[in-house]
Amino acid sequence: MFINLSEADNLTENKVDELYKNHFNNALYNSFKLTGLDIHFERAQGMYLWDKEGNKYMDFTGGFGALNLGHNHPRVIAALTNHFNKPNLAGESINIYNGVLANNISSLTNYELPFCHFTNSGTETVEEALKLAQMYKGKGIVIYCSGGYHGKTLGSISALGNKVKENYNYFYESFIEVPFEDYNEFEKVAKKHKVAAFLVEPIQGEAGIIIPPEGYFKKIREFCSKNEIILILDEIQTGLGRCGTMFFYEELGIIPDILCLSKPLGGGIIPIGCIAVKKELWDDTYGKLPNAGLLSTTYGGNTFACICAIETLSVIKDEKLPERAKGLGDYTISSLQKLRSNHKIITDIRGRGLLIGVELGGIKKYPGSAVKQFMISVILAKLLKEHRIMCSFASNSPEVLKIEPPLIVNKEEIDYFIESFDNVLNDEKGELSLAMDSIIKAGKEIIENPKIFLTL
Ligand SMILES: Cc1ncc(COP(=O)(O)O)c(C=O)c1O
Repeated sequence: MFINLSEADNLTENKVDELYKNHFNNALYNSFKLTGLDIHFERAQGMYLWDKEGNKYMDFTGGFGALNLGHNHPRVIAALTNHFNKPNLAGESINIYNGVLANNISSLTNYELPFCHFTNSGTETVEEALKLAQMYKGKGIVIYCSGGYHGKTLGSISALGNKVKENYNYFYESFIEVPFEDYNEFEKVAKKHKVAAFLVEPIQGEAGIIIPPEGYFKKIREFCSKNEIILILDEIQTGLGRCGTMFFYEELGIIPDILCLSKPLGGGIIPIGCIAVKKELWDDTYGKLPNAGLLSTTYGGNTFACICAIETLSVIKDEKLPERAKGLGDYTISSLQKLRSNHKIITDIRGRGLLIGVELGGIKKYPGSAVKQFMISVILAKLLKEHRIMCSFASNSPEVLKIEPPLIVNKEEIDYFIESFDNVLNDEKGELSLAMDSIIKAGKEIIENPKIFLTL
């Protein structure tokens, strides 16, 4: 039976579950059911989501970093609504908003990265960065970091710093892994091979919010410049205010050769990604006339996505969201530090701005990613069901709770989160009850099919 939109809006929850399970993703459905994260949301605005019964939930997941402005920011919605008569896809023509958005992003880099190209997602952005580096260098391997996450298309997943990529044994032999934070190891590998690019996140998000040691990136920058290795900085999660500066590279005191942006760029409303590129790289690749048409994708840089992005950047600037993220991030970290003395399960708290990880060392010691995911799901489900807070964990380090609210969050909301987290940890005192809950729930599902819990 074909379902039209007005029928879709009025389906029962049971019917929605049946459609999801039978035609979308049964494994993901089972995983949500098992972990107690099987919720249906009806409406969203700012920091909040509402279910059908009208219960209000606070969003501390922030769309995995895409919702820097919160849900459905009124200025972005208005910008879009006011431009719906514009051609979204006008094929062979000069699109005003491509030029404006490219200028605005370049201006935020002080025109150090003066050329931009637009894509439709984070992973596609990384693909374009890798392609540009290969085109510029002619040949060479890509170095990436253990624990790193850059997306799930074939190029990006070849640079995934965990074993999940072995499901897709395709062309990752031209990618070499080095530990993050270890400059000497990087240099050793880089000296041994012909290297086209180093692809790296400035803070590793999915690895569990890993902050690089002081001076690491300066040494990397220097080595890459000396040895003509393209430094690709993946700021898809850290960029656009999240970590207390517009781009985290500002805090590192370096400029990358290629900057990757996406997630929050479309205001959490329309997907868009961007590579911002140094002039000499651009001039030698896509800046050449015969290559003019090589960088095309049907929806890349479509008008509506660019309009969302232009307005999103204006909101980030006008509302001083990077400064806000810094102040509230410091406040959140110091509040979490106070909790730590009461909860042995917390072994580390780290982050910059509003990208914060709480490492639950009590979970870390248990074997297997799926078991850890289950254990942390007990905490997530309690936060969701008992305190109405949505939160998530780092996909490559499930023992790390990720605190990544929209940058519009306020102090009272942070206080409520801290108080709720404290209550949940009090309920689970001693880890044992957490482990028992998890093991009972996981049962044989975990043993039979651990992959169903890899949801990101
Ligand atoms: C650092 C980083 N790079 C790339 C990606 C991939 O982005 P997308 O999911 O839009 O493909 C992500 C997504 O989590 C990310 O965190």
